[in-house]
Amino acid sequence: MNELLQTLIQSPSLIFSLLTSGHPDQRSKFIQELGKACQEWGFFILVNHGIPENDMKAMFEAATEFFNMPAEEKQQYEPKNVSDPIKCGNFNVKDTSNHTFTLWRDYLKLYVHPEFHCPLKPDILREALLIYSERTRKLARALLEAISETLELEKGYMEETLNLESLFQLFAANLYPPCPEPDRAIGIPPHTDHGLLTFLIHNGVAGLQIQHNGNWFNVNSPQNSILVNTADQLEIFSNGRCKSVKHRAVLNNEKTRISIVVANGPSPDAIVGPAQPLVARDGRASYLPMKYTEYIEKQLTKSQVNGKPLLEQM
Ligand code: SIN
Ligand code: FE2
Repeated sequence: MNELLQTLIQSPSLIFSLLTSGHPDQRSKFIQELGKACQEWGFFILVNHGIPENDMKAMFEAATEFFNMPAEEKQQYEPKNVSDPIKCGNFNVKDTSNHTFTLWRDYLKLYVHPEFHCPLKPDILREALLIYSERTRKLARALLEAISETLELEKGYMEETLNLESLFQLFAANLYPPCPEPDRAIGIPPHTDHGLLTFLIHNGVAGLQIQHNGNWFNVNSPQNSILVNTADQLEIFSNGRCKSVKHRAVLNNEKTRISIVVANGPSPDAIVGPAQPLVARDGRASYLPMKYTEYIEKQLTKSQVNGKPLLEQM
């Protein structure tokens, strides 16, 4: 954790409404910037995305109520298998050898699409999550359609090949309490996400860092924006054009941070490999095709996939 940290000043910021504005010039500007962001950064900040502020607020309220429930209530969701569709727990692990905390996070993880799984309590969670997951799913499909265009693929090619109507959606709420020794612990260690596009919002307390050209950057984002990162399946599908960005969550000793994460992947049954038209263009496929669920399993068990070590998180 000694790397020189810099504030992310030139991170791409995209105005989603330009895509849907009906102005061809604005639309092509958006497409061009989107392509650049996915290929150079694997990350962008999305504003004017159309998801109402109240739907985001409802998610933070529901997540806070969940984390505040008595431990006995949450105990039933402690993971028995890595692929349980409802899981919660905490990583407040004390490393007894040198008395420092290494991991510092409470989490709730749910599979919300194509099958919807949700704890019964708190009451407000189900409704808020149904709305938020549907809205983010629509947004993900619109962005993926636009990314497909940046890759100069035929309209509908990505949607059909990856069967995005049944896209896999994983929801995670993370709670990072103030940590007495933030420099000696981490919220989430460096990792890439396994899906296509991940959306992250937070409660106004920064903590996400992304790696760019080998350096770690803090992400400063405007209120109500969505932090979007491209993930492993998009890197594979684009035959390496889109970058699955490495990121991590760091801690502070003053404020509780909550992040709400929605990871959008292909359909669980999709066999994901580099898109054929791109392989034809490049003269070679840089990744092996694999069923998406198999890829997730390998990631959860920390196997190597396509020569990359995959971490447990997300
Ligand atoms: C964060 O909470 O900022 C990172 C979450 C993640 O990568 O899943
Ligand atoms: Fe992540």
